[in-house]
Amino acid sequence: METTTPITIQQIEMGLGAWAWGDRLVWNYGSGYSDADIEAGFRVSVENGVQMVDTAEVYGNGQSERLLGKFLKHTDQPLYIATKFFPMPWRWTKTSVVNALRASLRRLDLPRVDLYQLHWPGWVVPIEWLVEGLALAQRAGLTREVGVSNYDQNQMQRAYTVLSKYDIPLASNQVEYHLLNRSVEKNGLLDRCQELGVRLIAYSPLAMGLLSGKYSSENPPPGMRAGRYQGVMQKLQPLLRLMAEIGQDTGGKTPSQIAINWCICKGTLPIPGAKNVRQAEMNAGALGWRLSPEQIKALDDASDKM
Ligand SMILES: NC(=O)c1ccc[n+]([C@@H]2O[C@H](COP(=O)([O-])OP(=O)(O)OC[C@H]3O[C@@H](n4cnc5c(N)ncnc54)[C@H](OP(=O)(O)O)[C@@H]3O)[C@@H](O)[C@H]2O)c1
Repeated sequence: METTTPITIQQIEMGLGAWAWGDRLVWNYGSGYSDADIEAGFRVSVENGVQMVDTAEVYGNGQSERLLGKFLKHTDQPLYIATKFFPMPWRWTKTSVVNALRASLRRLDLPRVDLYQLHWPGWVVPIEWLVEGLALAQRAGLTREVGVSNYDQNQMQRAYTVLSKYDIPLASNQVEYHLLNRSVEKNGLLDRCQELGVRLIAYSPLAMGLLSGKYSSENPPPGMRAGRYQGVMQKLQPLLRLMAEIGQDTGGKTPSQIAINWCICKGTLPIPGAKNVRQAEMNAGALGWRLSPEQIKALDDASDKM
């Protein structure tokens, strides 16, 4: 059965992030949510119009891809499947990209994915070598589209140029983007993506859960997130109050839905993570409507003050 879908990344409004599926280090997989919770969240996302899942070979050391492969067998809904290559320092040939994708496909139990992304630019190997590997993987029919992640403007341009030689479009650049981190909007990367026809995939659109409104200085998020966002927690309340107000004026939307919809309104493709049905259902409720230009401006102003 063909479980992937012929649509392109340009046509997708929102995806589901699968980092927490198997990850103990940051997300504490195994405590507070189970595989059954994740699968129920996956199912409800798909039923509510989410068309894409984003995973990576390193998420849970392959467990995220394995779980996704299992869940795909329980759905008839075609989905756009994206995974990523991690540029380990010892992987420096273009065939290493193809071999890593073959291993991902075995875990996913799929003949091909829809999007294969370079997770990071790499620290040892020139960008061009790894991008050649993406081209090779696409030519071999192992992925329909190719993309990068965490690439700045210059790095993205280099990837774009290499792929142009093969007549392969650079489909996407996946970067951090949310109301607490708007650097791609300010440094020109978002504009450049739009000029080149590269879809900007916004990761951590809820700022790892902070924009859901459930955390505060008194009730910080568990684990490494507390340290990462320590300085932000005290300043968060005015923005969260505004998000709640806007939510009330928009038919009772939640802060999470406002945060995700704001990413969509900015022309990006958010991929929020969800650990259970409640979160998945709420996040999918960000689809099918739009914040007004005035509401977007108010959110921009409040985020600028942070
Ligand atoms: N390319 C990269 O380098 C990169 C880096 C990071 C992420 N990503 C991708 O982006 C995806 C999403 O990013 P992310 O997981 O870092 O952060 P996120 O989507 O901003 O936040 C997800 C977390 O927020 C909480 N949450 C989600 N929905 C909620 C709701 N409706 N109400 C309350 N809490 C909710 C959950 O954690 P708690 O319940 O524990 O709070 C959930 O795991 C990842 O899964 C991954 O696919 C890519």
